[in-house]
Amino acid sequence: MADTAGVTITWLGHAAFLLEAGDTRVLVDPFLTGNPTATVTAEEVDPTVILITHAHNDHVGDALAISKRTGAKIIATNELGVYLGKQGADAVGANIGGTVAFEGGTVKFVAAVHTSAFDDGTEFVAPGAAAGLVVRLAGKTVYLAGDTALFGDMALIGTEGLDVAIVPIGGHYTMDPSDAVLAVGLLHPVVAIPCHFNTFPMIEQDADVFATNVSAGTDAVPVVLVPGESHIV
Ligand code: NI
Ligand code: MN
Repeated sequence: MADTAGVTITWLGHAAFLLEAGDTRVLVDPFLTGNPTATVTAEEVDPTVILITHAHNDHVGDALAISKRTGAKIIATNELGVYLGKQGADAVGANIGGTVAFEGGTVKFVAAVHTSAFDDGTEFVAPGAAAGLVVRLAGKTVYLAGDTALFGDMALIGTEGLDVAIVPIGGHYTMDPSDAVLAVGLLHPVVAIPCHFNTFPMIEQDADVFATNVSAGTDAVPVVLVPGESHIV
């Protein structure tokens, strides 16, 4: 259960996270069905709000079905939000630089260097920007980088005052571990959590090497979770 004194961050596998504080349950990038590392099913989660970084299928995941089942509002970048709204979700389309309030907290959409489109099985739809998320709840600030390359303006995101930075380290589609260490240096969070690795053979990485280099090269404390595990801040 969520610790009312802080935020419980649970890695559900790949880029899917659950942030819990009191009665607020924020589900991010809920790729569960078809995710070989997922620790819960789409039927088992009960979020109060769903956030999506970008339209790629390994991030949108089960968002539509979960939103329809639970009534949880989806907040996403604009074209994806509009697309999911047309599919019957209660969805809000925001955009980079904007902050959207939800019950219990806020999310600010920030830059990510990546692409974004949803493959509906026939064609790519819902094009638009890929984003990172700065989530504030229970007095804590959690940055979820989404899928991104390393970029210098991560230093600006660091001025948000990050308790936690969740960064992809898988390489191939995103930063690899060495670029992710540089990212943590720019973001200067209190805690750095890696994700988006070891889901598929193409993104196999040794997170312990990332952790060692974060400890050696930055002021952040690395926290390597296994899918299903939580960290409380
Ligand atoms: Ni992606
Ligand atoms: Mn991805």
